[in-house]
Amino acid sequence: MSKHARDSFSSKFGVIAAAAGSAIGLGNIWKFPYVTGLYGGAAFIIVYLGFITLIGLPIMLSEFVIGRKSRRNAYGSFKKLAPTSAWKYVGVFGIGAAFLILSFYGVVAGWSIRYIFFSFSDAYQGSSAEISLFFSSLVKNPTEPVFYQLVFMCLTGLVVVLGVHKGIENVSKVLMPILLVLILVLDVRALTLDGAMEGVHFLFNPDFSKLSFDGVLVALGHAFFSLSLGMGTLITYGSYVNKKNNLVKTAIQVTLADTIIAILAGIAIIPAVFAFGLEPSEGPGLIFITLPNVFQNMPGGAVFCMMFFILLTIAALTSAISILEVIVAYFTEELKLKRKVATVLATVLTSLLGVICSLSLGIYSGYTFFTLNVFDLLDFISANILLPLGGMLIALFVGWHLGKYKVFREIAQGGTLKGQFLVAFMFLVRYLAPISILIVFLKGIGLLDLIIG
Ligand code: TRP
Repeated sequence: MSKHARDSFSSKFGVIAAAAGSAIGLGNIWKFPYVTGLYGGAAFIIVYLGFITLIGLPIMLSEFVIGRKSRRNAYGSFKKLAPTSAWKYVGVFGIGAAFLILSFYGVVAGWSIRYIFFSFSDAYQGSSAEISLFFSSLVKNPTEPVFYQLVFMCLTGLVVVLGVHKGIENVSKVLMPILLVLILVLDVRALTLDGAMEGVHFLFNPDFSKLSFDGVLVALGHAFFSLSLGMGTLITYGSYVNKKNNLVKTAIQVTLADTIIAILAGIAIIPAVFAFGLEPSEGPGLIFITLPNVFQNMPGGAVFCMMFFILLTIAALTSAISILEVIVAYFTEELKLKRKVATVLATVLTSLLGVICSLSLGIYSGYTFFTLNVFDLLDFISANILLPLGGMLIALFVGWHLGKYKVFREIAQGGTLKGQFLVAFMFLVRYLAPISILIVFLKGIGLLDLIIG
């Protein structure tokens, strides 16, 4: 597509719906409740909130600045803003990360579609062992989850092929309000169960003795994953935002929306889990194993169960389109492919890798790398390595390469800006964000222990 005909978002609400749609996804509704359950509840949430505010928000603003300033895809933007340097490889790396993330994302989203109909199945009527068996046989099955994953990937491709305004923006504008209503209904249901307060206590009363260093690393990785940072999604979306938009406000609103929905998802799930005497530390199976047990035991549970998985599928769809768009924007602008061709190609490639991911939980589970199967490996590498590193490089690019003056000019378009804000922002992207990411990251991979003995 030529530069002049570049598609874009048409309204402020459209920008928020699309960007919040990207941020709010499986990360909020599937991952956040289970990692909170695994790493000790409120103490984990506090660390997470610290990372969101001090690292996530400034990096989100940085991505918007890079995107809107350059009006290019994740790779093209670095190439345009720093033509002669190696910065463009940050973009290449982002596009690679998009492939990896979307491939396992589609697998989980496929399970979610399957679970929309779960409350009508025999297993739903069965014992908790039967429910658990249903999930483990689903993920291990060589064909069924692949089928649902492909259905999901086709839906994602269909939205993306329609374009930024007609597809992504319009679909997000309809789906995001529905998502909010669904989650509020589920919250009310969970909080009105007898015994729900124990779960609320777990979510809001910190016990720092339960927080491990792993928990801190996971909180950082999850902050990136949940806000869609570190691989150019918000660079790509930022490139479709017009110059009248106040980027600071938009970044704050998207961050708040993402955080609020994660907490609302925690409230919909954890108190219900406690109310039925179950444990919140099931891990990735929390919403697929523990939660159906909860629904089974509550009045009207079958309907709430269906609502929950519709919610999860909607959240996953508006996120998956944003990941696919990173690849499609790159294909159309850099390789000059037509949008249709680019979308089909990107969808097919990510689906193929996705199929391998799905099979790695069943017939290919014998192939492991560092004890992880392909599915866990991609999840681990992307959330704990690629995204934090990508985010660090994005912060350094804005802080040191673009520098104060250019950043100021871009942020000031469409908003008034206080000098102190800019000083604080530059401090965060130049020093605090990169240094803290580096420390957490090195410690995470064990290097820091070696260096400091
Ligand atoms: N943020 C989404 C979620 O919480 C997933 C997602 C979309 C994402 N785009 C991304 C994650 C870019 C990392 C990078 O589920």
